[in-house]
Formats: sequence, structure tokens, C-alpha cells
Amino acid sequence: MVAPVADGPEGDAAARTALTALGAGVDVLLATHEPATRAGSVTSVPLPPGSAAVRRVLLVGVGDGSVAAWRSAGAAVGRATRDRGDVVHAVGDVALGGALPAYVEAVVLASWAAPRWTREGAVAGCEPAATCVVTGPADAAMVRRAVVRARAQLVARGLAATPSNTKSPAWLAGRARTVARRTGLDARVWDERALQADGFGGILAVGQGSATPPRLVRLDHEPAGATASTPRVVLVGKGITFDTGGLQVKPVDGMVGMKTDMSGAAVVLAVLAACRELEVPVRVTGLLAIAENAVGGAAYRPGDVVTHYGGRTVEVGNTDAEGRLVLADALAWADAHLDPDYLVDVATLTGAARIALGRALAPVFSTDAGLTDALVAAGVTTGETLWPMPLPDTYRRALDSDVADLTHIAPGVGGGAVTAALFLREFVGKRRWAHLDIAGTGRSDVDAGASTKGATGFGTRLLLRWLEEMA
Ligand code: BES
Ligand code: MN
Ligand code: ZN
Repeated sequence: MVAPVADGPEGDAAARTALTALGAGVDVLLATHEPATRAGSVTSVPLPPGSAAVRRVLLVGVGDGSVAAWRSAGAAVGRATRDRGDVVHAVGDVALGGALPAYVEAVVLASWAAPRWTREGAVAGCEPAATCVVTGPADAAMVRRAVVRARAQLVARGLAATPSNTKSPAWLAGRARTVARRTGLDARVWDERALQADGFGGILAVGQGSATPPRLVRLDHEPAGATASTPRVVLVGKGITFDTGGLQVKPVDGMVGMKTDMSGAAVVLAVLAACRELEVPVRVTGLLAIAENAVGGAAYRPGDVVTHYGGRTVEVGNTDAEGRLVLADALAWADAHLDPDYLVDVATLTGAARIALGRALAPVFSTDAGLTDALVAAGVTTGETLWPMPLPDTYRRALDSDVADLTHIAPGVGGGAVTAALFLREFVGKRRWAHLDIAGTGRSDVDAGASTKGATGFGTRLLLRWLEEMA
């Protein structure tokens, strides 16, 4: 059982209620163990055998009781209860409001550990505790929704953790199909022939050096009673199943971890998979642009001219800037065929995003201030911080090419995350569009807070929040 202890006298009320119900001597317990109230501190109290159905009480500090403090507390509890069968969270009524979903999401996220691939085959890592009962007047629906959101994020983490010798583009597309079947989504997959027939030159160029050819996946969530006038959101994810850099091959350190370069696509898939359970009231289409950026005799080269979906030609400036090429095709297709009210892409796009904003903040670029505000606000709610960045026309000219309609990187300009976003903007028509660069936030080097080492699934919950709240 988990009971919260907070700063200030009223903060212990929930812990007292829970412990009294257990028959524990509250004052003795608190006096002998002196639990810290700092957010996320966990004091573990084993109970004598036979004293109650509960074996151990965790007194968890919730500090000043803010949403952020509850999120840290949840993360600490999730980590401390990994692999426990039954955990009862006696949060009482101190957690009502925004703190409750923050707490529950963090519990689920931090209790996860990556799967392992052993001689017995794939073995799930730690899964969130099977039973998660929250006593007190906590809103059950709120808890359930928080669990759904966090579990969706774990789907994204699991896919990103999968090694790339398993995770070919066809494999990832297959996973998307399976998830779609289970969660009531319509799915369509373009194989390399269909991509060729429809003119997806960017996805094909990036994928042509790989022994495992590229795919494009479309997933559709239709809310009950949807009509043609129901708003439609299109989410596009970068799905590079491994990024060697291509012929302009990455240095050793830069290539390690590039199995997670499909995190954007994983997030989009995870979001779509949760739409029905969360009763997202708008139509949502996910497009996963999937390819492996490999080195080989058939690989695309710097200087190649690629024809994107819709006919625009692009001079390849650097084969390691593959993400924008696969995204450009998907964005152009969405603009041409889906009439989206909002178009949002998620991508581990540039190392420059990480240099600019580090590991905790993700740049958001957008053509629409209202969309920026809504996404930023959703991120504030979920603790996934987005930071608005500019799309300055000053740098647009750097994308002019002598040999094609556009060049795909802007050398000498600097601002790598910005110029990448400017490139993408060329393919979104007049849509209200936003681009989330999760190259910094998509991966964590440490087990800390709600993140576990490896892919984080950053963006999943904020996008779900945003969609849930859409009328
Ligand atoms: N997948 C990388 C970006 C990345 C870097 C993600 C580090 C996560 C961690 C992307 O495809 C890439 O290689 N971008 C290049 C672009 C450059 C060649 C213009 C980069 O950021 O160096
Ligand atoms: Mn790259
Ligand atoms: Zn990449």
C-alpha cells in the first residue's frame, strides 16, 4: 500500500486515514519512521506478518502537493513497486484535480522496464502492477484514462526498444496492422510497389539502400457518429527503423541508439491505438513513414534529385537528413488527400534540437498560433514540455537549389532544427501544421522521473490530451 505524506499538517490526512483503516498505529509509525515529505521520497515500512492483508506500506513524499510534486511521487512509487502484484494507492482526496492523472501516469510509466530478448525469446520487462486500486473519492474514470494514456506511451517505448534486426520496416508495418486490428482502427499499408505506383519518391529514396524495403502505413480512428464534417487531425510520424546516416555514415557514437529513430512513428501508432478507449471525439488519421536508412550499393547519394509525392523535386544535401525526406512525402499526401483541420508531425529529426533545448524540452514549430498554444498547454498538463520555436523567412532562401525545386539541408545557416522545420513547411500547403522535434526528449540516458532508460515515448500523452479535449 502507498500512502502520501505532504508538507504541512493537513497533508498527512490521507496517510492517516489509510493507515488507520489498516489498524496501524499511525503516530507510532510516523514517529518511528519519520518519513520524508520531499516529493518522490519513499519510506518503506514492512508490516509484521499476519497484521493485515498488506505486507508493506510505502510512505511517499508529495512535497507541496503541486501537480509536479505528485508526478515525482508517482514516478518514485512506480519504480519502487516494479514487479509487485498488488499495489493499493491510498491517495485520499489530496490528489483530486490535475494531480491525480499526473500521479497515476507517472506510476505506470516508471514501473515499466524494457523487454529482453533471451534464449526463451522475447520476454516482457517489468509491466505495471496488475492491480492499481485507488481508494478515497478519487474519480475512477480519471484514473482509468490516465492508465490508458500511460500504457499507450509504453507501447511506443516497447516498439522503440525493439532491436533493428527484428524491426524491419515490414515488421513495424505488421505491428501497426496488429495494433489496429486490436483497437478498432482501419489500416492501409503501402509496400514498395505501391509506394512506387503512387510516387512516394522521398520514402523510396531513403529506403533504397536497405535490404528491407520501406513502408507507409495509414491508420484511421473514426469516432462514433462521425460525419464528413467531423474535424480531422492527421498525425505523421518519422519511422526510421535504423539510421546509419546512409552513405554519409554516422560516427560510432552518433549511430548507437539509432534503433529509436522510429520513435515518432511509434508515438503516432500509440496515440491512434488509444483513441477509441479515450473516446477521442474527432477523426484522427496516423501516417507512419517507415524506412531503414542503410549503407549499401543501392543507397541514395548526396546530390541525387528526389521527386516527392506531388512532384516537387529535392536535391539531397546529406543522406543523414533522411527524416525530412520521408516526412515530406507523408505530409504532402495528407495535404492532397485528407483535408486535415490540423496536421502534426512527430520526429526524432535533428541533433540540433537536442543542442538547442536539451533533453527535457522539445521544440514545437507551427504555422498556427492557436495550435501551438493548444499543444503547449496539453504538454503542461502532462509534463511533456514543448517550447515554441520560430519559422523565420530569413532562412527560407537557404533551401533554394541550383539543380532542383528545393535543397534539403541549409549548410552554413546554422539553426539545424529551424531549417529542418522550414523544409517540412514546404510540404504542408496552407494547413494548420505543427512539427514536434523529439530528438532530445525521445530518449533518456538514465532511469529518472517518469522516464526509463532508452526511448521515452515523449509526446504520446500530450497528443492524447490535446485530442481528448477537442470538440
Ligand atoms: N535521427 C537523426 C537525428 C537525431 C540525432 C536523433 C541524435 C536523435 C539523436 C537525424 O536523422 C539526423 O541524422 N539528422 C542530422 C541532420 C543533418 C545531417 C542536417 C543531424 O542532426 O545531424
Ligand atoms: Mn539521420
Ligand atoms: Zn534520423
